[in-house]
Amino acid sequence: MVNSIAIPEATGLRAGIKAPVQETLLTPRFYTTNFDAIAQMDLSGQQAELEAILAELRADYNRYHFVRNEEFEQCWNHIDGDTRKAFIDFLERSCTSEFSGFLLFKELSRKLKGRNPVLSEAFSLLARDEARHAGFLNKAMADFGLSLDLGYLTKNRPYTFFPPEWVIYTVYLSEKIGYWRYILVYRHLQQHPEHQIYPLFRYFENWCQDENRHGDFFKVLLRSQPKLWNNWKARFWSRFFLLTVFATHTLTVLERSSFYESIGIDSHEYNQQVIDNTNETAKRAFPSILDTYHPEFFPRLEKCAIASQTLAAISSNQRPTVIQFCQKLPWIAVIVWQLLRLYLLPSINAETSRTAVN
Ligand SMILES: [Fe+2]
Ligand SMILES: [Fe+2]
Repeated sequence: MVNSIAIPEATGLRAGIKAPVQETLLTPRFYTTNFDAIAQMDLSGQQAELEAILAELRADYNRYHFVRNEEFEQCWNHIDGDTRKAFIDFLERSCTSEFSGFLLFKELSRKLKGRNPVLSEAFSLLARDEARHAGFLNKAMADFGLSLDLGYLTKNRPYTFFPPEWVIYTVYLSEKIGYWRYILVYRHLQQHPEHQIYPLFRYFENWCQDENRHGDFFKVLLRSQPKLWNNWKARFWSRFFLLTVFATHTLTVLERSSFYESIGIDSHEYNQQVIDNTNETAKRAFPSILDTYHPEFFPRLEKCAIASQTLAAISSNQRPTVIQFCQKLPWIAVIVWQLLRLYLLPSINAETSRTAVN
């Protein structure tokens, strides 16, 4: 699937442009929200923090960072077979996800212009960073003879509506998990330069600082709205989104084990490190977090990953849809059951430790 080049007549795409992967629950989505509600948000409770993060975003530390060096100028055909497929898949998923951030932030900036100039400026600075990230990843895909038509994606992919509260929880988490994903790969490759198969990873250190700043901006939005952290609903949604993001991460990382192996990373260990660190970071913004050190936590998540891979295998087994559906049911039940058990594990109250971590 990942190495297929789009047939222009069939898809309306230009030659050499990669057909977008089939949309699944794991594909990064494009979002839209209630722009009016965001324009009216009162941020006065976090004024100093907002000004501090705006100053950081305006400083534009990575203005000259995303410039391809001469290391990219070579043939990459030695990355082949399953590693190549998994690597292109990693690039595509990352590019789509960065671009999804760009579209949402750009639209927020546009819609808030004249109504909430401070937020409009902040979203435009965030969009600037995500455009660089997506563009850099798309150029990396071109090194493998493919690229994404981002204009085509903008017009043709469905947009999912999330209320502002959900946008704040999920974007905060995706920025922070993005930070940990990039920095852990970077640190690993620093310690093991023999696995540095492609120069993209050398850019991750400064790159992840962009994601960290984006996460800090969303932390300001979250903490400025008491209803997002001072009641039972907020605790419910915090743990719900943590679990959703961690389950998605586990499924996608374990499905692409061969890519991580190609750069000397054990996918299970990496998944755990990313999740443990993101959960710990979320303690600074969310009212409640998960206990990722509970002995049942990762075994249950990994059972979901096995069930998800089985579902994918059933989807491609050429049997009639009705039969596939019957084959899938028990595996869907496994995922639902494991997620429910995970959600019901004891949680950690982050508000009680807030004075200590802030
Ligand atoms: Fe990004
Ligand atoms: Fe970001």
